[in-house]
Formats: sequence, structure tokens, C-alpha cells
Amino acid sequence: MGPVILNRTIIQRIFGICATPQPKDEGCWTVSGKRVEVDLARAQELSTPFGAIRLEGKKLPVRLLVVRGDGDSFHTFQNQCRHMGRRLDPVPGTRTVQCCSIGKSTYDFTGQVMSGSAKKNIATFETTRNREKVIIQL
Ligand code: FES
Repeated sequence: MGPVILNRTIIQRIFGICATPQPKDEGCWTVSGKRVEVDLARAQELSTPFGAIRLEGKKLPVRLLVVRGDGDSFHTFQNQCRHMGRRLDPVPGTRTVQCCSIGKSTYDFTGQVMSGSAKKNIATFETTRNREKVIIQL
């Protein structure tokens, strides 16, 4: 069986418009050196399985995609497809993330490329939960 394809329009794919928002509450995350902290009490997008946010700016060295798994696990990816650099989205109900572009490169939660145009894996970052904080080590 092939990968599950995220439901996106052809226009969204041509222009590389991802489904995952930046957090509504920009103050829900902070960067300190190589450590990123996300406050779950403020990051409502991560309150349900397969919820996700993209983190950009604040002097981050790379764009990040933070995904809640199907249980209480959290996963962080470099948010840059290894084909042409477009952003990724989680595919609900699967343990994969998928490029928003036409090539639909799909990676598992370890960052390994499973299908699509990309030939290389994406970087993932150690992500742990400590009470109401998600901590990402860059
Ligand atoms: S940029 Fe991701 S498949 Fe082309």
C-alpha cells in the first residue's frame, strides 16, 4: 500500500501552501541557545493527536515542524523537504509527515523518506515532554 496522501488542492500544491499554521499565540514558544520550549497550555494547536505547529523566526537556525503523535508523544522535524525545500504537514492517522508540494515527499516520524520526489531523509530533533512543556534540543 502506498502512502496516505494529505488532502490538498492542486493550487495549494503548486504554490507550496502548507496546512500547518504558525501558533496563534506567538508567545507559546521560546528559544534559548539550542533549546526550544513550547508551553502546551498556550499552544492549543498541539492539544489533540496529529495537531501541529510550525516554528519560524526568533533566530531559529532552521524552520521547525512540531507534531503531536497519536499518543502523548511529540516529534520535531526540520521543516524543509529534501527535494526542493517546501514545508511539511502531518498526515493525520499515520506516523508520517508530507511535503505540501506536488512531489508529496513523505517521511516517517524518524525522518526517513518513504516516498515521493525526495531522495534524502530530513533532520529530526530530540523532543521530550516535561509536564506542560515540550522541550526540543536543536
Ligand atoms: S519540495 Fe517536497 S516534494 Fe518537491
